[in-house]
Amino acid sequence: MTEKPAIAGGTPVRDTQIFYGHQFLDEEDYGAVLAVLKSPELTCGPKIEELEHRLCEVTGAKYAVAVSNGTAALHLACLAAGIGEGDEVITTPITFAASANCALYCGARPVFADINEKTYNIDPESVRAHVTRHTRAVVAVDYTGQSAQLDALMEICREHGLLLITDGAHSIGTRYKGQPTGSIADMTTFSFHPVKTVTGGEGGAITTNDETLYEKLCLLRTHGITRNQAWMEKEADGPWYYEQLALGYNYRMTDIQAGLLCSQLNKLDRFKMRRKEIVRRYDEAFSQIAQLSVQEEIPESDTTRHLYILRIRPERLTIGRKQFFEALYAENVCCNVHYIPVYYFPYYRKLGYEKGLCPKAEKLYEEILSLPLYYGMSDQDVEDVIAAVSKIAAYYAR
Ligand SMILES: Cc1ncc(COP(=O)(O)O)c(C=O)c1O
Repeated sequence: MTEKPAIAGGTPVRDTQIFYGHQFLDEEDYGAVLAVLKSPELTCGPKIEELEHRLCEVTGAKYAVAVSNGTAALHLACLAAGIGEGDEVITTPITFAASANCALYCGARPVFADINEKTYNIDPESVRAHVTRHTRAVVAVDYTGQSAQLDALMEICREHGLLLITDGAHSIGTRYKGQPTGSIADMTTFSFHPVKTVTGGEGGAITTNDETLYEKLCLLRTHGITRNQAWMEKEADGPWYYEQLALGYNYRMTDIQAGLLCSQLNKLDRFKMRRKEIVRRYDEAFSQIAQLSVQEEIPESDTTRHLYILRIRPERLTIGRKQFFEALYAENVCCNVHYIPVYYFPYYRKLGYEKGLCPKAEKLYEEILSLPLYYGMSDQDVEDVIAAVSKIAAYYAR
């Protein structure tokens, strides 16, 4: 007989809640933070440079600029790209709002391209179809950590003279055709929020191989002010002298965050392997269940998976995503939904965006939820999640 889910009066698969994401910190991390706290420089100090050097090693990029968070990284990338009033920036709706907001910050208009229904990443053909004479850049998101189809996107960008910015908030450690993402697009942005694979509490970065973009990013990160004589317009009045050359921001990261991130990056390979292991186990279990479908990966992507997306097949279930979500909570398995299509938000509706723009993205949104996925999950945690999902899918099978 089919086992009853907790929401229908059965026993939950576990007594304690498991969250969908969680940071992993160890003694090395605590020590790294304490060392900075005991040092003379809490900000603008040597840990920033060390982190930037480490990020260049991890991503293979020539330059890295550490900033306060992933949103600031996207904003600066768009500014450095020269995006402004009247421009259009193509992005995906299946992302966190910041991937589109960065265009709005610069006075440009985000244009939403549809996704590939199997990988859930932005579809290069849809990008191509949305290019106009106003398009200046593409912000492609490595959704869930899987690399976007960079070859195809770069070809479109080259053809039309566009800049390719990759939002790699999910994808630190991911490789595309063996090369780390972060050294392929014109600029790649990262986020180090605690749910991400490595964290600084908050934090972000931009990587690039382009020296001019790098210099702009450095300047804009700190008010547009420089102490670099080579960049100044006049001879310094004295050692105190600096110049403001552009209207920048205070988007600096602290050395405390950078110290923590250097320590977290030491564990990136381990984090990646464990995440891959969990994904493999989930995929293996869920591909056997007719009520579910599993996210496909392009063979070019060796992915550090940040999110595990469970997609239900509503035609094979008597319940929808909302009830599935509630049933998982009743089993003490906490999940989430990534993402509500960005243009559904009232702010975007008021700007004139309407439902129907990206049918595949809209369909995906109706059918997905994000399952627990993080380094610290035990094998038993993983099996509990599988048991909960399997029980619900079987009980409500159509
Ligand atoms: C795809 C994506 N882009 C950008 C961001 C923004 O990063 P942050 O929260 O560090 O500002 C996030 C954060 O969740 C994200 O998931």
